[in-house]
Amino acid sequence: MSGATVIDHPMVQHKLTHMRMKETSTQGFRRLLREISVLLTYEVTRDLPITTVEIETPLQTMSAPIIEGKKLVFASVLRAGNGLLEGMLELVPAARVAHIGLYRDPKTLQPVEYYFKAPEDLAERLVVVVDPMLATANSAIAAVQRLKERGATQLRFLCLLAAPEGIEKFNAAHPDVPIFTAAIDERLNEKGYIVPGLGDAGDRMYGTK
Ligand code: URA
Repeated sequence: MSGATVIDHPMVQHKLTHMRMKETSTQGFRRLLREISVLLTYEVTRDLPITTVEIETPLQTMSAPIIEGKKLVFASVLRAGNGLLEGMLELVPAARVAHIGLYRDPKTLQPVEYYFKAPEDLAERLVVVVDPMLATANSAIAAVQRLKERGATQLRFLCLLAAPEGIEKFNAAHPDVPIFTAAIDERLNEKGYIVPGLGDAGDRMYGTK
């Protein structure tokens, strides 16, 4: 598996454009993020395996489809990943949640871990790792590495925006983990920001800076 799947649904693209606009308020950005994350999750779960159960409708019994296997895990890379969680849990309320605290050293751009908490039985679950911006990919690579060390074998990575450099690096480090994104932008700038991008996702969703 290489490259990334771009979720090019018109509703996703429309919402993303509004998120990119610098005049979009914190409140507006957060609302759009929640809405877009429902749509992104819908696509990232599109091919989940289905099984059937016998149920009774008010009229008769039937064999009806349900999702097979253990509940999903959404693994949020703090802090910006949390902005996507709300919408994801709206669509999949029974999902388990992992948190991975990584911050980017502003000088080296390397991830430094300060928190890790995940369900015990990761090996039996599909883990969707979420971070809105796949920029240098250093944090994403480290987060996936930690989850693999804890037993995860089936993973997907979900973001809003990806830089070509980040996709290439992530694919090389974790060729078994497919990337889903709403857009692939032009490049990274000298500060490690995606351009044209949307700025600092964490600052925009929490109104910091
Ligand atoms: N993180 C962000 O929030 N924005 C970028 O452009 C890159 C990394």
